[in-house]
Amino acid sequence: MEEERTGARLRPIGPSSSQPQKPYTEMGSPPTGNTFAIVNQKGGVGKTTTAVNLSAALASLGRIILLVDLDPQGNSTSGVGISKTGLRMSVYDVLIGGDPIDHVIQRTATAGLDLVPSDVRLAGAEVELTATIARENRLKAALRTARNHYDVVIIDCPPSLGLLTINALTAADACLIPVQCEYYALEGLSSLVTTIDLVRRHLNTGLEVSGVLLTMADPRTKLSDQVATEVRNHFGSKVYETVVPRSVRLAEAPSYGQPIIAYAPGSRGAAAYLTLAGEFADRIGLPHGSNRGAAVQVPA
Ligand SMILES: Nc1ncnc2c1ncn2[C@@H]1O[C@H](COP(=O)(O)OP(=O)(O)OP(=O)(O)O)[C@@H](O)[C@H]1O
Ligand SMILES: [Mg+2]
Repeated sequence: MEEERTGARLRPIGPSSSQPQKPYTEMGSPPTGNTFAIVNQKGGVGKTTTAVNLSAALASLGRIILLVDLDPQGNSTSGVGISKTGLRMSVYDVLIGGDPIDHVIQRTATAGLDLVPSDVRLAGAEVELTATIARENRLKAALRTARNHYDVVIIDCPPSLGLLTINALTAADACLIPVQCEYYALEGLSSLVTTIDLVRRHLNTGLEVSGVLLTMADPRTKLSDQVATEVRNHFGSKVYETVVPRSVRLAEAPSYGQPIIAYAPGSRGAAAYLTLAGEFADRIGLPHGSNRGAAVQVPA
């Protein structure tokens, strides 16, 4: 069984001093710029795990990906191996300071994956944005040119429906909603759908719900099946066929600052996110023929 507890081996995330080379904004690649917000105001449903691992899996399929960490917790930032404490600039400087996003984008150790990092200062941004002109459009404006350098931009949202999430929904072409396979899985989704509708009506007419992803499913329990059926009855074909299983490896990987395809390439979690990446790419018509290999990491 691949799911062994290896807590004793956990080590702190290392410094980001060894981040390699130039970001893809400076390298000119054929882009599509499809932008997706990973959103659910409920905490701990797998937004960040999905943002990091879907991004890395898409990159391993040969796509060029920008991951935007829009959560003050900065879990996507550390999840791809970038130290939150060593940051010179972050998405905060873009949203509040008006700095160009290319000044903030960093290459990660995963080939094909760039990051806009977050830091704790973003916690104050909800309040600071309130007094800002075009406050809902700050991220969209910042990404306008940069997104054209990427095949897909993925935005990891915080667990709230505040101005940061509204910025993500305004910047996005579509949103992906992770839903944890647990009791009350659908609770709170109606206010999320209402928020998405409001953004579509007032700020971003093109916004779609691209998909609903079932996460942390436990095949040994009937509960996961029941929740999956309930969610599929509610959202129909919007629900991805791929279901992400509960996996200790997926929970461990962030402690190593690695996506699952690098940390445990043979695990069920890695297989799930690679399958999801294929399904995701198929749904948006993104070619994904040239698999660079699941665990490709740029040498530091
Ligand atoms: N499939 C999974 N199997 C096991 N653990 C998981 C899985 N997906 C996520 N986790 C763990 O569950 C916790 C919550 O996941 P995650 O951080 O991705 O959720 P989130 O929605 O981003 O949370 P928040 O709302 O706080 O930002 C984390 O400790 C993560 O490692
Ligand atoms: Mg998160």
